[in-house]
Amino acid sequence: MLNFNFYNPTQIVFGQGQLSQLDSLVPKNAKVLITYGGGSVVRNGVLAQVKAELAKSARSVSEFGGIESNPKFATAMQAVERVRAEQIDFLLAVGGGSVMDATKFIALAAANADYQGQEEQLLIHGFNPVPVNNAIALGTVATLPATGSEMNCFAVISRGEDKLPVYSPLTFPKFSILDPELTYTLPAIQVANGVVDAFVHVVEQYVTYPTGAHFQDRTAEGILQTLLEIGKTTVDEPSNYAARSNLVWSATMALNGLIGSGVPHDWSVHMLGHELTALFGVDHAQSLAVVLPSMWRVRREPKREKLLQYAERVWGITEGGDEARIDAAIANTEAFFNSLGIATRLSAHGIDQQGVERVLQALEKHGMVALSERGDVTLEVSRQVLEMAL
Ligand code: NZQ
Ligand code: ZN
Repeated sequence: MLNFNFYNPTQIVFGQGQLSQLDSLVPKNAKVLITYGGGSVVRNGVLAQVKAELAKSARSVSEFGGIESNPKFATAMQAVERVRAEQIDFLLAVGGGSVMDATKFIALAAANADYQGQEEQLLIHGFNPVPVNNAIALGTVATLPATGSEMNCFAVISRGEDKLPVYSPLTFPKFSILDPELTYTLPAIQVANGVVDAFVHVVEQYVTYPTGAHFQDRTAEGILQTLLEIGKTTVDEPSNYAARSNLVWSATMALNGLIGSGVPHDWSVHMLGHELTALFGVDHAQSLAVVLPSMWRVRREPKREKLLQYAERVWGITEGGDEARIDAAIANTEAFFNSLGIATRLSAHGIDQQGVERVLQALEKHGMVALSERGDVTLEVSRQVLEMAL
């Protein structure tokens, strides 16, 4: 097992009706800004419930809506102005990964006066923490199980054609309320996206190379098997609580640092996927579903041992030679994504060879030229992966 430093201070309040805990979780004298997205929480009544809970104490509450999917720097900056003008001291994100991510950025930008006027500089640190000492406290009411943003400190912010990671240990939510019933109004495709995003988060931390991390491997396999067990049901039966509650907790556990401690990480599928989203607007999870099968086919050698372990322990494939078992595991994965209504080819998104060239240029521009757990995903390897996915 590799050395690690695991820190996760987020309090999780899970289950039916748990929005009723909100009044006790947000400081009574806080000046709160509720952040939300394009209006789903207005239409399904979640925003009204949140406001009713916050009104149980005499705190000041205002709202900022309109955060788009793949949240934009410019939109987040409008909220930063509000935070400064109203001297907000608590941010409450009510929504999916995009709202939670934007809120983390708002928390950083609004609390660090030395970045005022040059807040885009917060976005240049990539996979290093932003060098700041302050962030406004934030909590979340998560309405979409997918990204794990409700229990990690990461955010992804879009600026022009750049999709930029940003994080700080200061942007862990203080708490997240995970009530699976608040996700029942999700369109089926967003639920399918959530299953796929969580699945790929796990394999980016698991299908690498063995380090003897038995607990992490068995836990990763447990999450993957849970997603296989409940994935189709939770897409087809939105108000099946048993299935949905397992999706919600699996998605959170997939990216809260636990299974990623002490093991190598890949993330090359995410980095190629982010360019597909930035350039062509492909939903985050759908970009991953396109890249993952080809990435495994191209990189079967460096991932051989873990792919064989994945085949046996997650899919129960024990018959046939090594190559046949790896092929079957990749085919099963692809079939699982397809069974949820998620495509695994670039052509399904209208992306052709010219599009591949644009992705490669973007990867080069962003310095994404030595990706993966071994740093061996060069632009040439990315080209093979993308061309195989056409
Ligand atoms: O905007 P509204 O109107 O709220 O509608 C949203 C949006 O259209 C809708 N929605 C959310 N909850 C709903 C609902 N509709 C009905 N009922 C509900 N209960 O769903 C749509 C998608 O929402 P969004 O937040 O964009 O999706 P998701 O949660 O998949 O987040 C995607 C973003 O997260 C980033 C992605 O790059 C992308 O920008 N990621 C963040 C990560 C992290 N923080 O650790 C890791 C991920 O790998 C990912 O990169
Ligand atoms: Zn993801």
